[in-house]
Order: sequence, then C-alpha cells, then structure tokens
Amino acid sequence: MTDNIKCKREKYQSKEDMINLTDNISRFDDLKFNRRAFLKTAVGATVALGLTTLPFSVKALLGDFEEERELVEIAKLDSIPKGSSITFHYPTEKDPALLIHTKAGELKAYNSACTHLMCPVFYEQESEVLLCPCHQGYFDLNNGHPIAGPPQRELPLIEIEVQNGTVYAVGRKIRHG
Ligand code: FES
Repeated sequence: MTDNIKCKREKYQSKEDMINLTDNISRFDDLKFNRRAFLKTAVGATVALGLTTLPFSVKALLGDFEEERELVEIAKLDSIPKGSSITFHYPTEKDPALLIHTKAGELKAYNSACTHLMCPVFYEQESEVLLCPCHQGYFDLNNGHPIAGPPQRELPLIEIEVQNGTVYAVGRKIRHG
C-alpha cells in the first residue's frame, strides 16, 4: 500500500467516525446528561462547602469567643481596697493579668498584655480606665473594650468568683469583637 492510499483511507475513516459520532448525539440526551452532571457537581460542592464551614457556623451560633475554665486563687478580698488593683497570672504563668477593685466596689479582671503590641496595661485610678502607656491606648474598665489609641481588640476577660473572702479566677473569655 502506498503512502498516498494509506493517507486517503485514514482520512476517510476519520471522517466517517466523526459522522457516526455526531449521529449518536441526541440533543435532548445531551442536555439531560449535562444538566444531571451539573446538578451532581453543584450538590457535591454545596455539601463539601457546608461540611468545611460547619465548625465556624457552630462557633458563630454559640457566640464569638473562646472560653477556658480553670480555678486559681488570686488574693484575699480585704487585701485589695476599693480603687486599687493587683497583678496576677492567668491561666498560665505566662499570662499577666490585672484584678481591679473599682471605686464602686466591683471586681474586674483582664489579661493585662495590651492588644496592640503587648505592653502592660495599668489601672488608672483617677479616671477609672485601663491605660497602656506605650502608645496611649485606653480600655474601658467595665468591659475591656478599646476606647482610644491604637488598640483595636478587647482585653481577654477573666471571670472571677469570691468564695469565703478569697477571690478566684475561674475562667477566661477571649473575645473577637
Ligand atoms: S502597646 Fe499598648 S498602645 Fe501600643
């Protein structure tokens, strides 16, 4: 067989194959199968997306904060006069914290590393705010929210309890407001 005949034959066969192929395509079948494939892919993608975002959805439903619980003694209540503060560490020795006995007699506690660049935050007794002297950052004493200066995030809130005249840290909430 010469090359010329072989070439003609291949050309003819491939043309015929194409005709057979296009003859087998039904427009309605094609649409049906494409639609089915699309729906399968869409449902699969939706289920996969739902499963991967499930932890975030649960977290959003339960509230946007993380909570740790561990009981640690801080001090005797009568050793902290109103309008004063003491330092302690919670929940580990690496986490500095501040317990404030406000002028009104309330107890407030927060981790005291500034949420800007980690400088220590102090209780400013005269104006009853929490002050970070590094860049003049101010936090609300009542809730730890930043109120002035560079900090954008709240101080982690330490939950406290008084039992038989002793103040305990019992938990910590890291908020993401
Ligand atoms: S480190 Fe506290 S304001 Fe900058």
